[in-house]
Formats: sequence, C-alpha cells, structure tokens
Amino acid sequence: MNDASESSAMFAGLPGISGGTRVCAVIGDPIEHSISPPIHNAAFRSLNMDFTYVAFRVRRRELAQAIEGVRALGIAGLNVTRPHKATVMRSLDTIEKTAREIGAVNTIVRSDAGLRGYNTDGQAALEVLRKLGGSLSGARVAVLGAGGASRAITYYLSKAVERVSVLNRTGAKGLRLAREVTRWSGTKCRSYRLNEANLRKETSESNILINTLPVDVFSRFATTLTQQRLIRPGMIVFDANYYDRESDFLAKAEQAGAKVSDGLEMLVGQAALSFELWTGRSAPIDVMYQAALEAKKAQTR
Ligand code: ATR
Repeated sequence: MNDASESSAMFAGLPGISGGTRVCAVIGDPIEHSISPPIHNAAFRSLNMDFTYVAFRVRRRELAQAIEGVRALGIAGLNVTRPHKATVMRSLDTIEKTAREIGAVNTIVRSDAGLRGYNTDGQAALEVLRKLGGSLSGARVAVLGAGGASRAITYYLSKAVERVSVLNRTGAKGLRLAREVTRWSGTKCRSYRLNEANLRKETSESNILINTLPVDVFSRFATTLTQQRLIRPGMIVFDANYYDRESDFLAKAEQAGAKVSDGLEMLVGQAALSFELWTGRSAPIDVMYQAALEAKKAQTR
C-alpha cells in the first residue's frame, strides 16, 4: 500500500469523524497516560453519538490561552485534571456552587451563558462508598490528605457520616479543611498532623479509611496499616489512586476483611457525570467501566 492509500484507509477507519463531529477533551500536565479518552469514546460509540474525545497537554502558563481556545473552537465539553483544577476557575464565566465551595473544577460545560465549571469527583466517590457500605450514617472516617481530591470527597462524604478526621502533612491546610467541613455539613471534623502515631489512633477509631495521598507518599503509611493490623473486618477502605496492577495494600486490606476500592470506579463515575452534563443523556456506565479496565490493562503491557 502506498502512503496516500494507507493514510486514506486509516482515515476511513476512524470511527465516524466528520465535519460535524463534536469534540470533547481533557486538559492537564502530564496527560499522556490519561484513560479518559478511551472511557468517553467507548460511551459515544455505544450510543452512536457524533462526538469524539481527545487529550491535550496544557502547561500552567498556557492555561488561560487554552481556555480561550476552548471557547473559539467550540469544544463541546472539557475535563480538567492536575495541575489545573483550581486555577482554571479564574478563566470561567460561572461556577456551580459545589465546585466553588470545594475550590476545584474538573468539568466544564458550554452553554449560551458561556463556560460553566462543575466538580463531579466528590459525588462519584460518594457513590462508590455507598456501594461498598450502604447508608454510611453513623460512620467515622479518617481521610489522608487535604488537597483537591480530599476536598471534593470530604465535601460530599461529610454530609453522610457522623465524624471526619483529616490527616495532613501541612497542618494549616488540614485545619482549614476541617473548619470548612463543619461549615458545609455541620459534621464534627478535626485535623491532625500526618504521622504514624496519629494514623494509628485515627484509623483504629474509624470504620472508613480514605487515601488521597500520592502513591509514593502513601506506600510508607500503607505498610504501617497492614503490619500493625489496623485494617479490620467490615471496614471500608478507599484509595483514590488507581493502579496499573492490583494494589498490594488493597489486596491485603481485603484479606483482612475490609471492603475495598481503588480510584478506577471513581474515575469512571466522575466521567459518567461529566458525560451527562455535556450530552443530557444517561451515561452507559458499564461500557465506560469496561473501557477503563481495558485501557488500564493496555498500559501495563
Ligand atoms: P490532589 O488533587 O490529588 O488531592 P493535591 O491538591 O496536590 O492533589 O494534594 C496532594 C495531597 O498530598 C496533599 O494533602 C499533600 O499534602 P500538603 O497539603 O502537605 O501539601 C499531600 N502530599 C503531597 N506530597 C506529600 C509528601 N511528600 N508527604 C506528605 N504529604 C504529601
């Protein structure tokens, strides 16, 4: 096959891209390992929608320009990931109340009134936790970390549980989150310095444990949690990271009788909520979850 016929065959093989195809995207830096494109493209394909989804690496200094590009190009829907979830808020026309309170936007919707920011991370996490643990009322929660992911998760979770403890390296940030949790939900929330002694105490007094620390930072604490048998039968253990292979810590937590989930289901959940905001249609969540699993598997090959 010569070059011209090869490229036209490849073009013909693209699933339904035409002049009328609407484009959604994710921006972040780094972005090349994002599995959001396969998740959303599987959803569009399964519903036979004339949409496609791509990833753009956007550097911090180019974020405002990228958002102008989103406006000019008529991008139909945008996801935002690290490190832009907070700074992107300055470039938007309106921000939904929950996202404003959390202080982070992961989904942008285009409307006649301009670009509107939402946060679908926390609701997705709450759905995962409810699936694992039912109503959650009366639960006591220990949350590791007080960054963007922690804020989104605790915003929703604190409305459903009895007590939250935040453990964070930077005390002032943990304290700020603890105060906001009480303001958001009226739920009792205290913050503690992230160290082994506080981890032991707060985990032993909690029945839900949530990690939002980066994988390499968490690994040290994960060893303490398993070696000191702090994970008990019936506990809910949720790690907001997702892993190429099965997480050793979550496997051990499950062996200890905990109900566990990593961040993959939350990632699919937030994608499904974004999809619904952009398209007004019910997201085909099983198709999206399957695509996420396959994309994750393909990355480990
Ligand atoms: P995300 O959106 O994933 O929450 P983030 O907002 O950058 O990302 O938050 C990262 C979290 O990991 C924070 O709680 C951060 O603690 P600080 O508030 O003290 O920065 C925590 N974190 C990151 N690197 C860490 C490290 N080396 N040791 C302890 N905590 C760390």
